[in-house]
Amino acid sequence: MNNGKLMGKTVVVTGAAQGIGKAYAERLASEGAQIILVDLKPEPLAEAVEDLRAKGLSAEGKVLDVSNEQDVKRFAQELGQQHPKIHGLINNAAIFSTIKLKPFWEIDASEWDRVMAVNIKGPWMLVGALLPYLRAAGSASVVNIGSDAVWMGKAGYMHYVASKAAVYGMTHAMARELGGDDIRVNTLSPGFTETNVPRETFTQAQLNGIMSAQSLKRVANTDDIVGVASFLISDDSRWLTGQTLHTTGGLLFR
Ligand SMILES: NC(=O)c1ccc[n+]([C@@H]2O[C@H](COP(=O)([O-])OP(=O)(O)OC[C@H]3O[C@@H](n4cnc5c(N)ncnc54)[C@H](O)[C@@H]3O)[C@@H](O)[C@H]2O)c1
Repeated sequence: MNNGKLMGKTVVVTGAAQGIGKAYAERLASEGAQIILVDLKPEPLAEAVEDLRAKGLSAEGKVLDVSNEQDVKRFAQELGQQHPKIHGLINNAAIFSTIKLKPFWEIDASEWDRVMAVNIKGPWMLVGALLPYLRAAGSASVVNIGSDAVWMGKAGYMHYVASKAAVYGMTHAMARELGGDDIRVNTLSPGFTETNVPRETFTQAQLNGIMSAQSLKRVANTDDIVGVASFLISDDSRWLTGQTLHTTGGLLFR
């Protein structure tokens, strides 16, 4: 697909070495955007960049721990020198597929802090650090990735659920504070989405429960949701800010 809808836009996608983040990057690049893929893991990141380039897409990779304040500042400064205008940011990096399910009283405080640092402090720091370049774009779009696990009150990873709950509040406040700069901020909120990455965050019993609760009766994959990310980054959503789009096959209605 190349309809050129995102031609001329430079977009940062975090957590883009694998899973849904990589799929966002590929879809946006295929629509003409210049993509900066960001991830903690250098090797899969390099492979993801190569993969996109081999398909003739414009992609570069930057290794970054989004929870490290100094690194985020340095990353933003260096990126701003290369790309003085950033038109979009997808705050997708999170501790997710590596989480082991356990009751909340067995989560130790250091694991709690790490999940919060990556899943909510990181996105907040990145938007702040990239602000000069988002402003310079004239009009920009930030997409924070939530999770409908919040609205289901899913058991077994309360630190994750709490961190993602904070994303919605952050989106609302950022949308208010950045509206004057014509920077839109929305949340894309996936439900269960299959990727090729193994994970422990879903049991078969939970999956069965979700299947019976979803209106659309099949398991979602990344192709089902990347178009919504593209819409939120594109000018087609230019009058949308502070909103949540639930890409869940009709799980809950809110
Ligand atoms: N897959 C689902 O069913 C689902 C459902 C709801 C929400 N989500 C959300 O969608 C996003 C992507 O999900 P996924 O299934 O691809 O997850 P994933 O765990 O497969 O991928 C997460 C990516 O983030 C990177 N990352 C982790 N910590 C980082 C850090 N400190 N700095 C930079 N990068 C870091 C990882 O290296 C990895 O590439 C996440 O925000 C997740 O919470 C996923």
